[in-house]
Amino acid sequence: MNLLESDGVRVVVHDAVATVTLTVPERRNAQTPAMWRSLAETGRLLPGDVRVVVLRGEGRSFSAGIDRRALTPEGLDDGFSLLKLARQTDTELDAAIAGAQEAFTWWRRPDLVTIAAVQGHAIGAGFQLALACDLRVCADDAEFAMRETSLGLVPDLTGTHPLVALVGYGRAVEICATGRAVRAAEAERIGLANLVVPRQDLDAAVADLVAALLAAPRDAVIETKTLLRSATTQDYDAQRAAERAAQARRLRDLAHLGE
Ligand code: CAA
Repeated sequence: MNLLESDGVRVVVHDAVATVTLTVPERRNAQTPAMWRSLAETGRLLPGDVRVVVLRGEGRSFSAGIDRRALTPEGLDDGFSLLKLARQTDTELDAAIAGAQEAFTWWRRPDLVTIAAVQGHAIGAGFQLALACDLRVCADDAEFAMRETSLGLVPDLTGTHPLVALVGYGRAVEICATGRAVRAAEAERIGLANLVVPRQDLDAAVADLVAALLAAPRDAVIETKTLLRSATTQDYDAQRAAERAAQARRLRDLAHLGE
């Protein structure tokens, strides 16, 4: 089923799997506010029986980040420009960035496991979109770079939290402050990539992972993902209490005592 096709985003749903494809290969899937609105809308439109979402980019690169025209005074075709944004009130500016962030937040929902299939470049907002997903499967030509700081900005599209969680504070500071490229082999070594495969095997590797994820019972995956998400924010005792509560629900469910 075709769920959505707009502003550089195509969403196709087959049973429990949704595939979200960025469809602007001629601009290396550069991101715009319109694309972010479509991505946010995707999260709202997904049917309730979808369990796994694959995010991919058409063409040579996953995503080369924000459309560079947004960095110019003229801006995008719709007039959007970061310089114009800077002239807005504090409230308007905060709301605008919060709106953009909505494209990046829903991938962490406990009812979904989300996979970014990354080939070529994942730069700036492209890197952050890959970080928004639970898992990253990378082609051997994948290359991440957080270019925001080099441009005088900060990574503000929800990327700082998962980056630090994945690679640690020290590496995150170095990667962001230098803006350097993190290539596939290093990405796998430091925990940024779950798996690196030859470019031609990317789709097959993602399909294998999707099948493996779907093999586990849905409710157990949801409970487990919820636990793993809270493990970095809760203290030890609160987390083990959450484990007990989740296990009690699972045991009762498996024993059909909840009926
Ligand atoms: N925005 C708009 N167009 C882009 C683009 C971008 N971010 N990245 C690439 N393109 C366009 C190019 O202009 C080019 O268009 P034409 O064919 O019309 O000239 C086309 O895509 C192909 O680009 P390249 O020829 O450069 O392709 P490549 O494969 O050799 O190189 C690349 C790819 C390394 C990604 C290079 O294009 C590049 O460095 N792009 C810019 C990356 C960037 O700086 N992004 C912004 C990061 S900061 C951010 O995202 C967050 C923020 O909030 C500021």
